[in-house]
Amino acid sequence: MDTQVLTETATALVADDKGLLAMDESNPTCNQRFAKLGIPQTEEARRSYRELIVTTPNLSKSISGAILYDETIRQRTTDRTPFVEVLVTAGIIPGIKVDAGAKSLAGHPGERITEGLDGLRARLAEYSQMGARFAKWRAVISLGDGLPSQGCIEANAHALARYAALCQESGLVPIVEPEVLMDGPHTIARCGEVTEEVLHAVFHQLYVQRVVLEGMLLKPNMVLPGLACPEQETVEEAADATVNCLLRSVPAAVAGIAFLSGGQSSELASARLNAMNVRFQTRLPWPLAFSFARAIQQPALEIWSGQEANVKAAQQALAHRAHCNRAARCGDYSATMESTAGEQ
Ligand code: 13P
Repeated sequence: MDTQVLTETATALVADDKGLLAMDESNPTCNQRFAKLGIPQTEEARRSYRELIVTTPNLSKSISGAILYDETIRQRTTDRTPFVEVLVTAGIIPGIKVDAGAKSLAGHPGERITEGLDGLRARLAEYSQMGARFAKWRAVISLGDGLPSQGCIEANAHALARYAALCQESGLVPIVEPEVLMDGPHTIARCGEVTEEVLHAVFHQLYVQRVVLEGMLLKPNMVLPGLACPEQETVEEAADATVNCLLRSVPAAVAGIAFLSGGQSSELASARLNAMNVRFQTRLPWPLAFSFARAIQQPALEIWSGQEANVKAAQQALAHRAHCNRAARCGDYSATMESTAGEQ
């Protein structure tokens, strides 16, 4: 294992106040999002949409790396240039989602385990050969009556650590993503309690599996009230709850933290990341960055709606969200940026 290469890649992914663009929706998830907007759910529509993303002018001003999906990493632009080549030429590091999705966990109704370890070593070798330099694996933890169970937390933490060790063996930086879901009426305190417990379990397993913390990134949820919780805390309260939870559970050696957006609105995701950096940046051991899918893509996807004529406007919206999130990394984001869209 080349620890230096891993550390350099991990550091590059969170350098210069940039962040990651997750564009690794599986085909079923991408199709679901297309269906809501009346976009055809075909391979060609998915390819066109991903071409729109990777060819967005100036994307690399705010985006350090892009996470692709198995179908996408094999696709090309209309002029036959592989997407990976387009990204590398723009100065964006290509990455790849390698988990095989979250499936029902036997004996644990309402809970899921992420699959994909079988054959992973060979798949990582192939992706690495195709140009990927980092990978992602997402575990999901649901909150509810009696949930999550110890069995679910431990099984997912173990799988994340096995995946991370295999990635590092192949020279790929693992993004370790344990997502505590926002669905439900739980309070912010409950989300914080569970997130802390999950992160402790994950870092214990990463230690047991000998994962080099300097050569990985953590992709956690923010600590937030459930979407159906009547009490919704302020941006500052959410920032404090999130950073305090991370300070208690994430070792200082980790190269960086890049949040998922998890179903927050684009503006709230930027505002919360901004508040964390305003309030804590000078006293944190790791950079706080972003690795959003919906919070960067959603406005662009809605503008595009499958229409060639809308590509340019959609690309502007995508670049704008990326720009807002880069500003949030420096604590420079403000709501006024939303009314000056397109001026960056
Ligand atoms: P969201 O930002 O839409 O939560 O997606 C992040 C991601 O990559 C999920 O695995």
